[in-house]
Amino acid sequence: MSQEDYLLANQPSELERLQVQSRVWEPAGRQLLSKVDGGSGGRALDLGCGALGWLRILSEWVGPSGQIVGTDIDEGLLDAARSFLRAEGISNVELVVDDLFETKLEPQSFDLVHARYVIAPLGRGHEQVATYRRLVRRGGSLVLEEWDLGSWHFNPPAPAAERLIGLLREIFAALGGEAGRGLPELLREIGIEEPAIDAHVIALEPGHPYLRLPLQFSVALESRLLEKLSDDELASLRREAEAELAAPGRWGTTFTLIQSWGRVEA
Ligand SMILES: C[S@@+](CC[C@H](N)C(=O)[O-])C[C@H]1O[C@@H](n2cnc3c(N)ncnc32)[C@H](O)[C@@H]1O
Repeated sequence: MSQEDYLLANQPSELERLQVQSRVWEPAGRQLLSKVDGGSGGRALDLGCGALGWLRILSEWVGPSGQIVGTDIDEGLLDAARSFLRAEGISNVELVVDDLFETKLEPQSFDLVHARYVIAPLGRGHEQVATYRRLVRRGGSLVLEEWDLGSWHFNPPAPAAERLIGLLREIFAALGGEAGRGLPELLREIGIEEPAIDAHVIALEPGHPYLRLPLQFSVALESRLLEKLSDDELASLRREAEAELAAPGRWGTTFTLIQSWGRVEA
């Protein structure tokens, strides 16, 4: 798979989106990691980590004697991650350009393998999870996180933004679908019999940058949206959604982050 196959690639809005997104979901990630034993001194992997992903919270989880590897197909996003980690003084993270469909990473070499929002936009979930399984050492943990779009709404209602979300839902359905609800089943298929499950929705106050997510997706997915709308229709939908989401007092709820995880057999 080349970088060009990733439909959100090379978009100016993608870096900003991934950084805001990572910060928004860090508390949910920390909460999950507090339930997984054996972090200190361990070796953990964040596949498709983008501009931050779980790198900071995994680095905290393994501590100074542990080691983190972050991989992505996009060197530019890894450069952004590198700058961020340097500014934060985080030194136990190695960043590697690697295609998760043809990974060059050593099998069974990680105590924990994490992947977030790579099944929904890339698809091939069964293949991805089988690869992740090979990378975890015996007795190690595999953690998956994906979205379910059902809770993504605004108050007061924002019809243009909601219409955009409806169109995005159709586009993602053709790729990995709403992968979140399928995660426990995917883990069972690779032998994790009773995967743990959790879910999080975050309330976004008026003015929160993550409220603009439908607009950022609309830039990243422009060519797909233009298969469904004319240039003018898309431009006016964006203008209306932009005004709605910037309106004083309008707040929202995120999509639902679904987390599922478990240990591979010792
Ligand atoms: C929706 S983003 C999620 C980023 C990060 N996991 C997070 O949650 O913030 C998907 C990421 O997968 C990366 N990606 C796309 N195709 C890939 C591939 N074949 N191998 C590795 N990474 C890939 C993209 O560059 C992007 O950073």
